[in-house]
Amino acid sequence: MTAGAPAGRLAGKIALVAGAGSSGPGWSIGKASCVTLARQGAAIVALDADLAAAEDAAHEVEQAGGSALPVQADVADPAAMQAALDAALRRYGRIDVLQANAGIGKVGGPEDITLQEWDRIQQVNVTSLLIATRLLAPLMRDQGGGAIVTVSSVAGIRYTGYPHLAYSVSKAAVIHFARMAAQQYAADRIRVNTVIPGLIDTPRVARNVARMFDADARAASAARDRQVPIGRMGTPWEVANAVAFLASDEASYITGTELVVDGGLTGKYA
Ligand SMILES: NC(=O)c1ccc[n+]([C@@H]2O[C@H](COP(=O)([O-])OP(=O)(O)OC[C@H]3O[C@@H](n4cnc5c(N)ncnc54)[C@H](O)[C@@H]3O)[C@@H](O)[C@H]2O)c1
Repeated sequence: MTAGAPAGRLAGKIALVAGAGSSGPGWSIGKASCVTLARQGAAIVALDADLAAAEDAAHEVEQAGGSALPVQADVADPAAMQAALDAALRRYGRIDVLQANAGIGKVGGPEDITLQEWDRIQQVNVTSLLIATRLLAPLMRDQGGGAIVTVSSVAGIRYTGYPHLAYSVSKAAVIHFARMAAQQYAADRIRVNTVIPGLIDTPRVARNVARMFDADARAASAARDRQVPIGRMGTPWEVANAVAFLASDEASYITGTELVVDGGLTGKYA
């Protein structure tokens, strides 16, 4: 954070947001998280496979008065992640927070997906956690601790009304990875938790809804709103606030668990 910026619950911390960009114009969860973590005092490493998306997120952080380094890397590529981490350490010297936010999917059931598509989804959504954790945990251990926040989905704990098999299975694995890693690293003061977003209004979702219901995307979006007990989709900022809490020292006694941010959606089917 630049001198004079307001101190917050993440003052002095360095946060790496993996999947920091947005897959379309507007605010994604990653981009809103970059700005939210920065407003709380963290300097941001905005990592994305799409360099322009990483630069856009970094630009928004700077617009908000924060400090950010955009880096390009595919979270499923260990060499690229090592290079990104090296660049981050050259700039900031440490990493206190990892938000593992990159996620991809393909709508459909077992007969609608190729093995290659299945493998790629698991690599980006799950194997990436192994890659990032193996890189960052030793660093965080040497620094005296850290916080990892993974990003799952309600699709990882419930059927969401349409088949999204590869994504749903991967998002269930995200939760269990975090639970297991939390046990592994608790003594090293590295906390590992998961945020479980519900139906969030991001550019990706707007595009998917338009594609699935091309007759009337606005009506489909309104139908998504009505599904939720609170009466609307969530905003990426509402997910980012949960990430910021779990990343901060206010959550110092919280590890190996999940924070569901879904406006009551999964409670309907409990
Ligand atoms: N939007 C929702 O309703 C919703 C709900 C539940 C969970 N989530 C999860 O939240 C996360 C963010 O969702 P969003 O809708 O804001 O996404 P988004 O698609 O708008 O943004 C994701 C970003 O990740 C980047 N990315 C994709 N693959 C990558 C890779 N291999 N390496 C590095 N970067 C990569 C993309 O370039 C993009 O900038 C995802 O994990 C998603 O599964 C979203």
